[in-house]
Amino acid sequence: MDMETQIIKVHDIVNDEAVFLKAGEVIKKGGLVAFPTETVYGLGADGLDSTACAGIYKAKGRPSDNPLILHVSDRAMVDMVAEEVSPLAEKLIAAFCPGPITIIVKKKRCVPDSVTGGLDTVGVRMPDNDVARTLIKAAGRPIAAPSANISGRPSPTTAEAVYNDMKGRIPMILDGGPCQFGVESTIVEVTGNEVVILRPGAITPEMLNEVAERVSIDPAVMGDIGVPKAPGMKYRHYAPKAPLILIKADENIIGNIFYREIKKRKENGVSVGMILSDETMAALKGNSIYDEALMISYGPRMDKKAIAAKLYEALRFFDTKKIEVIFAEAVNEDGLGLAIMNRLKKAAGGQMIEAENGVKV
Ligand code: TXA
Ligand code: MG
Repeated sequence: MDMETQIIKVHDIVNDEAVFLKAGEVIKKGGLVAFPTETVYGLGADGLDSTACAGIYKAKGRPSDNPLILHVSDRAMVDMVAEEVSPLAEKLIAAFCPGPITIIVKKKRCVPDSVTGGLDTVGVRMPDNDVARTLIKAAGRPIAAPSANISGRPSPTTAEAVYNDMKGRIPMILDGGPCQFGVESTIVEVTGNEVVILRPGAITPEMLNEVAERVSIDPAVMGDIGVPKAPGMKYRHYAPKAPLILIKADENIIGNIFYREIKKRKENGVSVGMILSDETMAALKGNSIYDEALMISYGPRMDKKAIAAKLYEALRFFDTKKIEVIFAEAVNEDGLGLAIMNRLKKAAGGQMIEAENGVKV
């Protein structure tokens, strides 16, 4: 499947009407178009056409039991694919859509099994991005779209990152600039008056708590207990090419732990990369051992929005460098920190060094 992959810059949704007509035609004919959303870039196909959706699995190398979510342009399009929308789901739509949330609903018959992996539910998402919604309108139907990466890799947050993974595999990428949030949507299931988070994301538990009486998190998501309800959450994911080890420790000792780990690797001739907060990076600068490692910052420790927006770029950064192991600094799990840590833990495949103040490790 070696086709030419066109990147088309979209500056303005009114003046670029011809671009959307063309991209809409590709979708209608069963082809694939990558497009920006406020979270990450998606790899889109006609969500009601099972052959078109099969193309998504092929281009990504995605396991066939991992269902796709459907992107809609407005509330009316939800009814094209949802058998019913419960009162609480309706409240979530009113509060957060368009926005970075995916709501699992009972599917209509028209939604093919190749989209849902045989489940009788489907994830519905209304992206808060003009390029995405204009494309959906141009196609005139819901667009199935997973993140536009090769399966298992970090999700792309720029058109360039999409191109690196999808070159030769898809005909068209719409370039709408870097994504605003940088981590995927929050996936929720609604049962009665309870919201269950199946994948943490940009809509935080704190935000959901303001709309729903009860909010819980699928216990399998953070702690590896049982099988996650979102099938995709069970795979190793977001992984850079080199192995990643998370380091979680108090600010005043994290430098010592990095020092010890890097020293060990250096003695064995292993090249090291580090993903750090601005603060830890500043604290480490000037020490000879740290100068031998390749460091990048994901932003200020307390600015979770900035960290989320930079996270996948940081994970992809080392892929083009001669690095054999990457260490990343953990963040606390408040607010958006839950989603950031969920992705970092997955990228690390469970490898984490944890140390509390005063406790020797
Ligand atoms: O922000 C996002 O959600 C991005 C952008 C492109 O919209 N999309 C995205 O799609 O992250 P994807 O396919 O990479 O992740 C969707 C997740 C997978 O883990 C999948 O298993 C889960 O949603 N999922 C899909 N349908 C489901 C269902 N009916 N029940 C439970 N989980 C479902
Ligand atoms: Mg994905």
